[in-house]
Amino acid sequence: MNKLSFDLSAYLNVNKTLVEDSLTKILGQLDPSRELVQAMGHSLMAGGKRLRPVLGLAAAKACGGNPLTALPACCAIEMIHTYSLIHDDLPAMDDDDLRRGAPTCHKKFSEATAILAGDGLLTHAFYVLTRPDTVFELYPKSSILLKLVAQISLAAGVNGMVEGQMLDMQAQFIESIIESIIDENNIGNKQDLLDHLKKIHGLKTGRMICVSVEAGALSAGADSQALESLGSYADNIGLAFQVMDDILNVEGDPDIMGKAIGSDALNDKMTFPAILGLEQSKAYARQLVDISLTAISKFDKQADPLRAIANYIINRDH
Ligand code: IPE
Ligand code: IPE
Ligand code: MG
Ligand code: MG
Repeated sequence: MNKLSFDLSAYLNVNKTLVEDSLTKILGQLDPSRELVQAMGHSLMAGGKRLRPVLGLAAAKACGGNPLTALPACCAIEMIHTYSLIHDDLPAMDDDDLRRGAPTCHKKFSEATAILAGDGLLTHAFYVLTRPDTVFELYPKSSILLKLVAQISLAAGVNGMVEGQMLDMQAQFIESIIESIIDENNIGNKQDLLDHLKKIHGLKTGRMICVSVEAGALSAGADSQALESLGSYADNIGLAFQVMDDILNVEGDPDIMGKAIGSDALNDKMTFPAILGLEQSKAYARQLVDISLTAISKFDKQADPLRAIANYIINRDH
């Protein structure tokens, strides 16, 4: 559906450039001789798919708005996402050396600088959102900006992504989790394991993807019915995205992905392939994308980018 009529690659390129030009402008307002600014820029401008901001722009378009109005929220979300990656790669967390095809922030600079670069990106994201006039020509009115601050901080914080990272860390040793979920009669319950994993994935990855779609829609002045349908779309692609991330960690090409593979198995991570196997995980991701497409079936052609992005999520190689 719509695959032939919509050129996703051109759409991604144009919108990625739009986001990156704004991010460059945001960084350009900070003194480049400062090491903190260099560390922030190293990770923020290292590439990356820019999926979250592009989803926000696509959601604004699907709601009939001018996507440029959503750009402040989209940039703030990409800054927060990048902070989460910097901290995720630290030795105390996943201990990774490569990210977005470049040395991780702590490898290039120092561990302490990487922590502070993450802090800087997170905090500055909210400055950008509350003072969009310093960077952007178009932005939502103050009441919507306030709502965006609330929704984005909720998704990124203690009830969202940060809690997901906490649960992900606690689920590192799959044996102990399996033991704790097996009931007293010693009957293992795979469904409980899957439910727990869905919860982790929904928080650590899903919430930021959902709020990207929501932020785009809110910026475009979407009504509650549109927000609800888009919420269901986003919940399902968010989970599909992380299932695919788990699959790529098993069978992806590290050169294309710009980050290491095999680390989940090495770290005894609880993942979909570890519980369901690769083939069933792929089928599950497909099923989630189908549900997401149904959720936005009532939207017109303006939602074609959202449809194409949903399919891309499970067909991507990085
Ligand atoms: C990686 O996110 C971390 C997850 C939440 C799975 P992306 O795969 O979107 O990473 P970038 O932004 O393209 O580098
Ligand atoms: C990263 O998840 C999630 C966040 C940064 C919030 P992973 O640790 O599974 O992702 P990669 O494989 O390092 O990108
Ligand atoms: Mg991690
Ligand atoms: Mg990681």
